[in-house]
Amino acid sequence: MSTCTMSARWFRSLVFLLVNFTLLSLSQDMSTDSTPTSLRFSTYNLRYDSMPDNITVAESIAALPDPLVQETFLALSGEQPWSARRLRVSEHILSEDTVISGFQEALVRQVTDLAELFGDDWDWVGVGRDDGVAAGEFSPLFYKKSAVKLISNDTFWLSLTPFEPSKYPGAGSFRICTVANFSLTTDAKTTFTVLNTHLDDQSDMQRRVGASLILTRARYEAVKTRSPVFVTGDFNSPSTGNSSGAYEIITGASAPVAINATFAAKYDVGNQLSDFKMLDFRGQAPRQYVSNNFATYTGFNLPTDTSDWERIDFIFGGSNLGWTSDAYKVGSSLSDDGTLASDHRPVFADVTI
Ligand SMILES: *[C@@H]1O[C@H](CO)[C@@H](O)[C@H](O)[C@H]1NC(C)=O
Ligand SMILES: *[C@@H]1O[C@H](CO)[C@@H](O)[C@H](O)[C@H]1NC(C)=O
Ligand SMILES: *[C@@H]1O[C@H](CO)[C@@H](O)[C@H](O)[C@H]1NC(C)=O
Ligand SMILES: *[C@@H]1O[C@H](CO)[C@@H](O)[C@H](O)[C@H]1NC(C)=O
Ligand SMILES: *[C@@H]1O[C@H](CO)[C@@H](O)[C@H](O)[C@H]1NC(C)=O
Repeated sequence: MSTCTMSARWFRSLVFLLVNFTLLSLSQDMSTDSTPTSLRFSTYNLRYDSMPDNITVAESIAALPDPLVQETFLALSGEQPWSARRLRVSEHILSEDTVISGFQEALVRQVTDLAELFGDDWDWVGVGRDDGVAAGEFSPLFYKKSAVKLISNDTFWLSLTPFEPSKYPGAGSFRICTVANFSLTTDAKTTFTVLNTHLDDQSDMQRRVGASLILTRARYEAVKTRSPVFVTGDFNSPSTGNSSGAYEIITGASAPVAINATFAAKYDVGNQLSDFKMLDFRGQAPRQYVSNNFATYTGFNLPTDTSDWERIDFIFGGSNLGWTSDAYKVGSSLSDDGTLASDHRPVFADVTI
């Protein structure tokens, strides 16, 4: 090998390095300038797996009808097993191109089924509410790995003893809130926090304590991270009327109620962001981008009985902002064949951060 070829090669390597260094600097410049990014969030109460069977996801897919043949309209009615509902849930959420998807009532099988259906670009966080591991329902947060990176996550209980699996006195069930901190894959400096929850169905006092704990933690995150904070969840109570205490507390219309002192001390931020509250996406999105559907709970008696229909599932953004609301939508759980993917409908919100 001649010295001449050697130096030609060396020169080419140098040029190669310089070009790459320049490209790298450019891409770093791009990643530090915070280009607004639009993200779609969803929250969906799945209805727990109340008729468990041992049908695998692969078996369900193999049993699907020919996609080119029309099914009989509204041939089915009432609640179908999770094994029949899960493909509707995943198809709906995946087709909406969400990046952060909170779910409620998910038993461990439902979490692992969705993880299987969502595929390799998705991961999730959350624990079973009855033991902090896998027993009972999860309020999991699924996230798209190509869009966001998980920084940290934890769970607290919506009770008098929030740091251990526990039930509020008089509540129907153990209740939790899953907290996760994310950054954008395109810009590590842009971070945000999501809290996903499911308040109690029987105790209005539990719901008010739950909302107070969540607001305290959300405000702490807003102060500590100086970044947007979002709350997704099933409040098991509407935004108006005599059981709207949780909604009123989280939106700042009513004062919070007393919470566990250890929790209050751990997440104490003094008087910083003292007027912090959560803003309801339905009221924040430009009016022409607000869904016509209002109810998020329908039950399984569609389409005739609307007596139980209510808006009890919400997506909120923190009043410290750092985000804008672009659109809000309540999806449908009903398929042509009459299958309801859940007794709730999914809620979607588009946010630019
Ligand atoms: C599912 O499989 C388990 C283990 O084989 C069995 O104990 C259970 O009875 C099965 N359940 C149903 C509904 O078939
Ligand atoms: C989220 O990240 C910020 C900044 O890294 C940190 O201060 C905060 O404690 C994190 N929140 C959680 C839920 O871990
Ligand atoms: C999320 O929480 C789980 C359970 O506590 C923990 O094992 C895991 O390391 C956490 N992930 C991150 C990225 O913090
Ligand atoms: C607050 O919660 C912690 C753990 O969850 C518990 O040890 C403590 O006793 C609670 N404080 C009160 C006053 O109940
Ligand atoms: C709450 O409001 C509903 C509907 O207006 C009413 O039927 C019910 O009696 C009220 N309950 C209480 C405890 O006031």
